[in-house]
Amino acid sequence: MSDVKRPVLGVGLLGLGTVGQGVVRILEDRAADFEARLGRRLSVVAALVRDPAKSRERVPEHVRVTTDPMSVLTDPSVDIVMEVMGGIDPAGKLIRQALRMGKHVITANKALLADHGEEIFQTAREADRAVCFEAAVGGGIPIIQALRVGLAANRIVSISAILNGTCNFILTAMTRAGRDYGEVLAEAQKLGYAEADPTLDVDGTDTAHKLAVLVQVAFGRKVTTSEISRRGIDRLEAADIRFAGELGYVVKLLARARVRPEGLELRVAPTLVPKGSQLADISDAYNAIRVEGDAVGDTLFSGRGAGMLPTASAMVSDLIGLAVDPRFRVRQTEELWRPATNAIALVSPDEFRMRAYLRFQIPDRPGELAHLARILGENGISIASVIQHEPMADEREQASVPLVIMTHTATAGAMRLALDEIARTCRLPSEPVCLEVSGHTGRDD
Ligand code: NAP
Ligand code: HSE
Repeated sequence: MSDVKRPVLGVGLLGLGTVGQGVVRILEDRAADFEARLGRRLSVVAALVRDPAKSRERVPEHVRVTTDPMSVLTDPSVDIVMEVMGGIDPAGKLIRQALRMGKHVITANKALLADHGEEIFQTAREADRAVCFEAAVGGGIPIIQALRVGLAANRIVSISAILNGTCNFILTAMTRAGRDYGEVLAEAQKLGYAEADPTLDVDGTDTAHKLAVLVQVAFGRKVTTSEISRRGIDRLEAADIRFAGELGYVVKLLARARVRPEGLELRVAPTLVPKGSQLADISDAYNAIRVEGDAVGDTLFSGRGAGMLPTASAMVSDLIGLAVDPRFRVRQTEELWRPATNAIALVSPDEFRMRAYLRFQIPDRPGELAHLARILGENGISIASVIQHEPMADEREQASVPLVIMTHTATAGAMRLALDEIARTCRLPSEPVCLEVSGHTGRDD
């Protein structure tokens, strides 16, 4: 594609599922406005699918639906390729081919960027083309351009974010209505929030992919998914959501990045967030990203983090960006996923500083609490509060009762050693639960 303006900017879609159909819908609905604003038409000319017989929203006649990827990439009327098929292969190969053929690329594929960003951006630099990816993080929230342009004056100090719409939808329904995990996950899939393989959502991998992308944009640091300590919500129990509520917290799947003197601390984990704090109030499929910059201080970006139109909104914003100023987007591309120079070190997970919520199922007899408290104390972990309810009438015959301990700050390594020793010496009927707690004084980082 030359950057000479033609009356129609042709789009080739790789994928016509949830997000792809959203892109078609926005471009059709707003065609006249965009043409008036840009002085040229934005038009989808071809779309790649796996199964042409699948039922979809009405596809306009001018969109050629095909199962042949090369017929999209080699179509001379395709100027820009929008990749919304997902996965690593063939999506990565097709993006690189498109770049080599002179097309700019827009992608929503955080999994691909997180682990293969370097190859993709290297190819883009060699081809002097742009790769835009606003939709890859935060759905409709324009966080990528906010970091790259709006907060460009800042050194980013920390990011604390809810980045997975499916998980936030599930946690909200479990917290507010006590609904069943599996049933709410099925609803999130039906609403188009979940990944093709929803395990990636609930086990924290999708959030880690998005954190890896944010870390590249905010700190210029390449991290792969495997370098991010991560846990999901798939093993979270309703009892912990209830106890958290009793203690004044809600449970959120948080992605956190913080610059410390020792390096960059990165993690994804279900975390107790104080009720009334900014992130606690983000519900359903909404996402929120709290960014702290050295000059601006705290900022919060929130909005719909998943689904057809919010994600398509971000894709189309990149398309308009390319239509207005492709060279600016090429320059932005040149700066990302460069071979590492002076990269900030990553802090080892055992060195992370954390407050913990601990739940033990303990035998209800003398000395048990004292034994746990002694082991925590010997590992340098100080107790902030304890909850143990008297058993209800129908629980009196049970051999064990739940005991919840909130700790003060310690290292994750000390917490791990203490829990290992408790498991070894206490013969508990089930594994202890350990969740992170954020915020000391109403803050949620
Ligand atoms: P989707 O509904 O499963 O759509 C995928 C589309 O790609 C389908 O049209 C599918 O064809 C096509 N496709 C997949 N593999 C193909 C192959 N090997 N050859 C030809 N066509 C293929 O997925 P989606 O929800 O739109 O998500 C797409 C991308 O956007 C993913 O990277 C996802 O992570 C990202 N994303 C999604 C959301 C969201 O809320 N859904 C938000 C942000 C980012 P058929 O239609 O024939 O099956
Ligand atoms: N599956 C993702 C989510 C889609 O639920 O957040 C948006 O990236």
